[in-house]
Amino acid sequence: MRITVIGSGYVGTTTALVLASIGHEVIGYDVDSLKVEKLNKGILPFVEPGLELLLQELLEKQQITFTADRTVAITKSNILMIAVGTPSTSSGKADLTYLQQVMDVIAEQINEPKIVVTKSTVPLGTNRWMKQQLLEKVKTKNHSIEVISNPEFLREGKALHDSQFPSRTVIGGEDQEAIEKVRQLYTPLNTKFFVCNYETAELIKYASNGFLATKISFINEVARLADLIGADIEKVAIGMGMDPRISPHHLQAGLGYGGSCFPKDVDELLYFAHQNGIQLNLLEQAKQVNHSQIEWFLQKIESKLSLKGKRVLVLGLTFKEDTDDQRESPSIRLVEQLLNKGVDEVRVLDPTISSSAQIQWKNALPEHDKEKVNVITDKDNAPNGVHAILLTTPWPIFSNYPWNEWLSRTEEALIFDGRNYLNPDEMRSLGWHYEGIAKGN
Ligand SMILES: NC(=O)c1ccc[n+]([C@@H]2O[C@H](COP(=O)([O-])OP(=O)(O)OC[C@H]3O[C@@H](n4cnc5c(N)ncnc54)[C@H](O)[C@@H]3O)[C@@H](O)[C@H]2O)c1
Repeated sequence: MRITVIGSGYVGTTTALVLASIGHEVIGYDVDSLKVEKLNKGILPFVEPGLELLLQELLEKQQITFTADRTVAITKSNILMIAVGTPSTSSGKADLTYLQQVMDVIAEQINEPKIVVTKSTVPLGTNRWMKQQLLEKVKTKNHSIEVISNPEFLREGKALHDSQFPSRTVIGGEDQEAIEKVRQLYTPLNTKFFVCNYETAELIKYASNGFLATKISFINEVARLADLIGADIEKVAIGMGMDPRISPHHLQAGLGYGGSCFPKDVDELLYFAHQNGIQLNLLEQAKQVNHSQIEWFLQKIESKLSLKGKRVLVLGLTFKEDTDDQRESPSIRLVEQLLNKGVDEVRVLDPTISSSAQIQWKNALPEHDKEKVNVITDKDNAPNGVHAILLTTPWPIFSNYPWNEWLSRTEEALIFDGRNYLNPDEMRSLGWHYEGIAKGN
């Protein structure tokens, strides 16, 4: 089949490549022409393991092409899959500006019957509204249009695997022919299909992310208790996860959830519920616990070291390993709080960051704080004179750092591991004062 995937970000590019790899002819469309140019040259504009190689193979086979031309994008395929961003606004409501732009382009360029597949995470009720809007917009053109909700569940860092082996493929819609067409699209993947109406599909996506966010907040709250009594939270999680009703996934205590999905999807769900007079107490608390986790971590640090006037090295700025995505990263909130506590310098070291231009969030800091945040690329000199090292992203490279040698370079041998990533016994035997998240006595 011929498919256009609209939006060539983390989701759009991964989806486009996987659909091309199973034999479809795919066009990736994005308004960002620089991104399109890179993709057509076989350069992935973001970090995601395995994707660049697949991109190069598929370009070679001419199974995929990328364009910034809206006419090509819309007229050449009868399946249009939307994967544009739906970021949060300050009220928590999802911003549908990009989605609306796409609907306008579809209406403007429509040349034949189309199936519009919504992969973007969109608020409850959006797909039905989209169908009405699109039908209204194209009514003079005499072309039929169907909308299918097909939410995406991939994880950044594991996007290729998750798209090739989806846990399920949810198809929400009301037209049997369109549902069948979308089902056929994915058949080579051997996935489990779950067909339902628009609203059910939309809520499956939001409820899944809300549940996973709650699970993370739950284990983080239990970690505070574990810390108090000297239990090892990792072992607690293993013991809990052995129960198949619980499962071990998303039970890693740390600095809280972040990224481009959980925070914004929790916010949208809370906003939607509030607008409709429903109180989602559990989700509100999950959000609150997540927010206070950084404060809890800072209290642990401050019980060993007064932060005012100190130099701190932060290892990791992305919200997780194997991605360059810094959206809603707990590390950034931690850096902001360190500055609020009056630290003199925060050095940040992340394998995906080589210049200050890559930490645009720094621009929002007060003027006197901006100069205190320094991107470090030279790992050998990174620890010189720092009073504490905070590990905030579990990048594998961090475990290979010369910790023995670093010991003599720091002002104080303090390491706080916000992800329970390093081996406490090894670090302590080297002479570090090591503290993880509730790692027991
Ligand atoms: N990132 C994830 O892990 C993930 C997982 C599941 C679902 N989602 C959802 O998928 C959607 C996309 O997320 P993402 O992380 O890939 O976003 P992204 O920001 O990485 O990519 C979005 C892309 O859309 C492009 N775009 C914006 N307006 C456009 C337009 N009018 N026409 C064409 N392209 C346009 C942007 O230039 C950008 O390249 C969001 O709704 C998100 O909630 C994301």
